[in-house]
Amino acid sequence: MNQAKATQARKADHLRICLDEDVQFRQTTNGLDRYRFIHCCLPELDRTEIDLSTLFLGKRLGSPLLISSMTGGTQLAKTVNYRLAEVAQHYRLAMGVGSQRVAVENPQVVDTFAVRRVAPDIPLFANLGAVQLNYDYGLEQCLQAVDSLEADALILHLNPLQECVQSRGDTNFRGLLAKIATLCQCLPVPVIAKEVGNGISGAMAQKLIESGVSAIDVAGAGGTSWAKVESERAEDELQRRLGATFGDWGIPTSDCLVSVRSVAPTIPLIASGGLRNGLEAAKAIALGADLVGMALPFLQAACESEAALHGLTSLLIAEMTTTLFCTGCRDLGILRSAGVLQRL
Ligand code: FNR
Repeated sequence: MNQAKATQARKADHLRICLDEDVQFRQTTNGLDRYRFIHCCLPELDRTEIDLSTLFLGKRLGSPLLISSMTGGTQLAKTVNYRLAEVAQHYRLAMGVGSQRVAVENPQVVDTFAVRRVAPDIPLFANLGAVQLNYDYGLEQCLQAVDSLEADALILHLNPLQECVQSRGDTNFRGLLAKIATLCQCLPVPVIAKEVGNGISGAMAQKLIESGVSAIDVAGAGGTSWAKVESERAEDELQRRLGATFGDWGIPTSDCLVSVRSVAPTIPLIASGGLRNGLEAAKAIALGADLVGMALPFLQAACESEAALHGLTSLLIAEMTTTLFCTGCRDLGILRSAGVLQRL
């Protein structure tokens, strides 16, 4: 199998495994169960005046939700991406597409990512693995990913554990900070650094910010485990067991948020990794996040139907609105500053 075909097959495996197998963290949670909102018995608000809108990288969103980077490169992926983009446009959410390496290797599949046509107004994020900068990728490929999508920013994902468990994974991460710094200087759109479910610590966030990234998506532990996903695809016993051992490895999402916010009070910050409802989303915002990303819940709904996607999004918005109402917060800024979240 040539490289392009292998990448495409891997993308198809990822969708199938995430939908059909149990690849969620088990022992490690997102950490938000350690927090509880202080209920307000008399909010002095009309629920209809609650405002979930927010600005992210200069664009207005209806609510602080991001459909996290997932897919592209196959027919099913195209259907999923277009459905996700339509719902993102309808509710004014942000959206990321999956790694565009498959389209850099095979430009024929560019259209499986190119959702701008159906989502003209949303913040749309391109996606490549940062490690590819050590495997012949540079400004040209990054520009290609951004331009083909008319993207507002480029997400560079950091996935050292996934690469370790993946058969023939790309594991040379040496010198990447300097390459990210050069890229941030040359690329005409902001760069967002993101993990894939093992988390970004405050110390690493600081190094990434010093290198010039414009935002951080912590993608912490507690949801989809990429060690488990790659363990399911393993070609031999060693890889399978390696993935199983590290299946619950990572920094819980809530710990990432607290630690990144303590070193970088103003950096645009995305919470993701195991967030499964609007109440958890509101907790993440109260811990300092600007935007809340979810991957698997949106994938499951998109594969079910357009109605299921609308149902999920409406529920997330209703859950966030109810949290703000029952804590007496009129908007997200107040939720962040009101001291309404209690550590248990
Ligand atoms: C992902 N994720 C991901 N991330 C990324 O930066 N580039 C990618 O290509 C992919 N691909 C991908 C495929 C599928 C099917 C899923 C479910 C996820 C990771 C994703 O963006 C997110 O960081 C993690 O899945 C954790 O979030 P959840 O699933 O726990 O909400």
